[in-house]
Amino acid sequence: MLKRVPMSINQDQASWRLCRYRSTRSARVLVLATLAFAASSVHIAAQLNSTSGVSQFVGTRSCAATGCHGSSTHTVQPWRRSFHVWWQDDPHAAAYRVLFDPAAVAMVGRLNAEAVKRDDAYRKYLQQNCNACHATPQPAQPLVSDPVWGVSCESCHGAAGNWLVEHTQPEWLTLSSDRKRELGFRETRPLLSRAATCASCHVGEIDATETASATRRVVTHDLIAAGHPPLRFEFAAYYASLPNHWAPQADESRAEHWLAGQRTTLNAHLELLEQRVDESQRAREDQRDGEYRHVWPEFAEYSCYSCHHRLAHRSHRRERGNSAGSYDWGSWSLAMSRLAGTDRPELNQLRAAMTAPWPAANRVLSPLSRLLPSDRSAMEVPRIQVTRKTLQGFFQPSGEPDRWDWDRSVQWLLGFEAFYDTYAVEHGSDREILGVCRRLRNSVLSFPAGFLGPRDYESDPDTWRKFQDGRDELQRLVEQLE
Ligand code: HEC
Ligand code: HEC
Ligand code: HEC
Ligand code: HEC
Repeated sequence: MLKRVPMSINQDQASWRLCRYRSTRSARVLVLATLAFAASSVHIAAQLNSTSGVSQFVGTRSCAATGCHGSSTHTVQPWRRSFHVWWQDDPHAAAYRVLFDPAAVAMVGRLNAEAVKRDDAYRKYLQQNCNACHATPQPAQPLVSDPVWGVSCESCHGAAGNWLVEHTQPEWLTLSSDRKRELGFRETRPLLSRAATCASCHVGEIDATETASATRRVVTHDLIAAGHPPLRFEFAAYYASLPNHWAPQADESRAEHWLAGQRTTLNAHLELLEQRVDESQRAREDQRDGEYRHVWPEFAEYSCYSCHHRLAHRSHRRERGNSAGSYDWGSWSLAMSRLAGTDRPELNQLRAAMTAPWPAANRVLSPLSRLLPSDRSAMEVPRIQVTRKTLQGFFQPSGEPDRWDWDRSVQWLLGFEAFYDTYAVEHGSDREILGVCRRLRNSVLSFPAGFLGPRDYESDPDTWRKFQDGRDELQRLVEQLE
């Protein structure tokens, strides 16, 4: 069975993927068609506005008029070109189209053989299981033929039915954040709100009624086993690789992005976990717990290599002293909790509860109830000055058994790179440090060509030695910094 699990963090590959969606002729034609409809959308928004409380979707065309965000000239301010940048270079513009790639069709076929037999059955399956993350809901009042645009403006900025009219007036600039939120506009300038917007799809959420057409945004192990990439989101790296359709905020650093991202994505993970417990309990009450949607515990939250490792030969996992039958929970989102300042005793209790072979709901819910609802002010990121001492923090032992698996190593590297990048803005960058980071990223931690899943990953016992060697080298180089 062919499976493709692109988990590599290889930067070249990521930028190649971004390039794949570059402008084509058909794109230009679409844009022209767009302009003609934009004005009438504002009119439609005015009607929707008066008839409903919840903000409705009005469609991408409403944003794309030349006088609004649809200019194609390079000399105008970034906000006037947002549509073009998104359409030409942003992976989100293709998020719906990829659902029709052969790999996606094969994936759906493994999950449900009936769904791939007929076009309408396929689209229905997508609508129920994929579109919440891969598409923006159709406008409440579709124009002549609204294409499905992928993840477009309203998926990130909020359904515009209640705010589009005001948004086009000069007074918009003077509206308070609270007022904008009331209208259904999601602000992306404040860092925490920006990162939370991404996490709603890149981590997932179960009750996404306000932002999606279907309510569940979840990638389960079943989806992953069928070929979906596992969601391993690190905000600073992902954010840096999106083409800017905005004017970058010069006073923010990547270290701050990293911290905000660690805190928000952990929080999103905890909220998702709470919803999962709730959902699986309800499913058991209704005797629906055989359904794959309600599987508990959800394997996607664990280190893949807890289960996918060879029993036969000397495995790295067993060398680290993991006991048989225990799985590392939260290997991705908790990996950096000491440095991200999210380390709380309740988190260790939660990890212990989730690591037990059949996590009991009450043991999971009690630490969760103390971790949630989250105190947003505690997630607030201070201005950080990155010095040599800050960088040295990345090499301190964490006090608990060091579990270096793929998740932790990648998270460590992404964190170190974000902080080093911030340090280098002020002090200039050291070619040797960049070289070691590149080597770790492109050879040690990236998967070999043709890699199909985590099954074979740990089969190279040298990986971890090479990773630790690279880390030691970085530590030496950091000691030498001023
Ligand atoms: C929780 C949100 C979510 C759901 C639900 C979801 N996906 Fe995805 N999908 C993503 C994200 C996020 C990525 C990008 C992952 C990355 O690179 O980190 C992705 C990537 C993919 C890719 C790889 C695209 C490429 O460029 O190679 C395919 C194919 C895909 N999804 C298909 C599906 C299908 C089919 C379904 C439904 C059965 C589905 N997805 C459901 C969020 C989701
Ligand atoms: C994947 C999420 C996402 C999508 C899709 C998206 N945006 Fe954005 N947008 C952002 C983020 C994040 C920012 C803020 C970045 C910052 O302030 O650093 C932003 C900022 C903006 C800004 C402010 C620019 C500035 O310089 O102040 C405009 C205008 C904008 N987006 C318009 C659009 C339009 C129009 C679309 C659809 C064509 C769109 N966006 C699609 C995430 C998104
Ligand atoms: C509505 C759901 C949704 C939201 C919100 C969202 N994304 Fe995505 N994102 C996706 C999906 C689905 C894909 C996969 C698209 C594809 O491969 O074509 C994706 C792909 C990406 C990719 C390319 C990944 C790769 O492997 O090439 C990056 C980078 C990214 N998103 C960053 C962000 C950032 C940063 C934010 C917040 C500002 C964000 N996304 C918000 C759904 C979303
Ligand atoms: C709690 C144990 C467990 C965890 C954790 C787990 N898996 Fe699996 N996985 C399994 C089992 C069991 C199967 C089914 C094996 C079979 O039927 O051949 C499987 C099957 C798969 C398959 C399809 C078969 C194959 O070997 O290629 C893929 C791909 C996969 N898992 C990927 C992942 C990824 C990626 C992660 C981490 C996000 C993960 N798994 C975490 C237990 C686990």
